[in-house]
Amino acid sequence: MRRPRATEVSTAKKPVSPDPQGKIAGLAVIVMAAGLGKRMRSKQAKVLHPVAGQAMVLYSVVLGLRVAGDRVAVVVGHQADLVRQVIGRTTSGKSSGSPVAIVEQREQLGTGHAVLQSRPVFAVGKRGAPSSYLILNGDTPLLQEKTVRELLRVHEAEHATITILTAVLVDASGYGRVVRESSAERGVSRIVEDRDANAEEQAIREINVGTYVVDGEFLFNALEKLDPTNAQGEYYLTEIIHLAKHTGRRVAAVVLDNPDEGLGVNTRRQLAEAEQVVRQQIRDRWLDAGVTMIDPASTWIDAAVTIGRDTVLYSNVTLEGTTVIGEDCVLRSYTRLTDCTVGNGVEILDHCLFTASHIEDDTHLGPFVHLRPGVVVRKKAKVGNFVEMKKTDLGEGSKANHLSYLGDAKIGKGVNIGAGTITCNYDGARKFQTVIGDGVFLGSDTQLIAPVTVGAGAFIAAGTTVTEDVPADALVIGRVPQVNRAGWAARRRALQTGVNRETLNVKRKTESTRLTPHLSRLAKKQASVLESNQAKKRR
Ligand code: UD1
Ligand code: CA
Repeated sequence: MRRPRATEVSTAKKPVSPDPQGKIAGLAVIVMAAGLGKRMRSKQAKVLHPVAGQAMVLYSVVLGLRVAGDRVAVVVGHQADLVRQVIGRTTSGKSSGSPVAIVEQREQLGTGHAVLQSRPVFAVGKRGAPSSYLILNGDTPLLQEKTVRELLRVHEAEHATITILTAVLVDASGYGRVVRESSAERGVSRIVEDRDANAEEQAIREINVGTYVVDGEFLFNALEKLDPTNAQGEYYLTEIIHLAKHTGRRVAAVVLDNPDEGLGVNTRRQLAEAEQVVRQQIRDRWLDAGVTMIDPASTWIDAAVTIGRDTVLYSNVTLEGTTVIGEDCVLRSYTRLTDCTVGNGVEILDHCLFTASHIEDDTHLGPFVHLRPGVVVRKKAKVGNFVEMKKTDLGEGSKANHLSYLGDAKIGKGVNIGAGTITCNYDGARKFQTVIGDGVFLGSDTQLIAPVTVGAGAFIAAGTTVTEDVPADALVIGRVPQVNRAGWAARRRALQTGVNRETLNVKRKTESTRLTPHLSRLAKKQASVLESNQAKKRR
């Protein structure tokens, strides 16, 4: 925080609450998140646009919960149900509901009107009305908790009715400007919105960030007095400053040291700016926590991701959603993980794509592995190049090292999945399970026609199509017996070089004519066996 002006109080560090990270008694938080955000030119409500993978509104909500505990109300309007869901999903505990109260603003009549909608939430109940309110815009994702705590501290120390957060910008256009008094104290006199400002006011570079602390007894009474006679015909929250001054109340202000923190996202450009800043903050946080990044600038980590110590991230690694990475892992380049959990000591080589999967300790995966949702890779298992898995549990120490599709499968411990193994889990309409017992050896190019179970310790010869359940410890070979014809290839070459094409064609024709009845008999027989097998299984 910059040194305070005369009317601002000294910034001697003395927290409001005894625990600087604790909840502040008597404080309630109101987050305004009902606007559409026309300037985004989007079908989606502005506050739902993600910044570092997290909806913008959640930055304000999470901050609110940290300082005020469960006394947080969010005013929703545009795409209210979606905003409600996003907040509910993030803030609900495993057994309890969300501690956030959602209030609907049916018509977006301005920020003052938005805050007024939350009045019933805080009506005097068992706990009494809040002594003060922290009001946050839903579009300021860069705002830091320590700044908010400082704002609250100043508010109390100043005995102010309202305390606002301001920033001095090179380009203040679009923001509400802070008009100061001409007296020596240069106290805040009012805020004028960009669209209402005259040329002189537009030249002011000090802006209103949209973060306010307001006294409990003053807030709602003042909001009732707002007058929408302005350029936008809206009830401006900012007008309460003018109202406070008029009735002789104190208005204090804290000026941001780092004006970036006050960024309000109204446009896609500002969204991109916020994204850059938040990404950098996240990287710095994990670097400080003991994570190595070979090329931080190309390492993308979402807000909710966590990473253990001594894990090494190479260039172009992307960690999204709720991904959790353990300690001592190595993630090589061009790998993307979304909503995954990864244990300790895991090595993931280049070009892997994992979604909603769980990877246990000391496993090796990649390069080029695709894990679709619902995969579990147990301890010390290995998954090699060009293996795709979905809803599959690969047992401890099992290996699928090359070119396989494993879907809807439960695979035991110490199983060898040969190259080219495919679980045929889909018949065009439904999906079926494949179960493979401990210690099974699947030779290369095995196809498992699900539903099918292979008993523990069985051995499937390469090239087998497994259509029936296999008992434990059995050997299965299902492939056309090999025929060797001595000298056949040499005779063919001789024919190709010595005989003219005409003769060759005639010869081929007779051969195929001779073969046709035999082949069609064979095909019919196979079809009927297949049919009866399928019928048996599906019963
Ligand atoms: C607002 C401030 C401006 C400040 C700027 C900082 C007012 C009148 N102006 O302007 O002084 O410099 O923020 O970024 O407050 N919202 C509602 N209901 C409404 C209107 C808005 O919930 O009827 C919500 C929006 O979803 C948003 C927040 O309030 O999260 C701010 O609204 P926005 O339209 O972005 O205000 P600005 O024009 O940026
Ligand atoms: Ca705004």
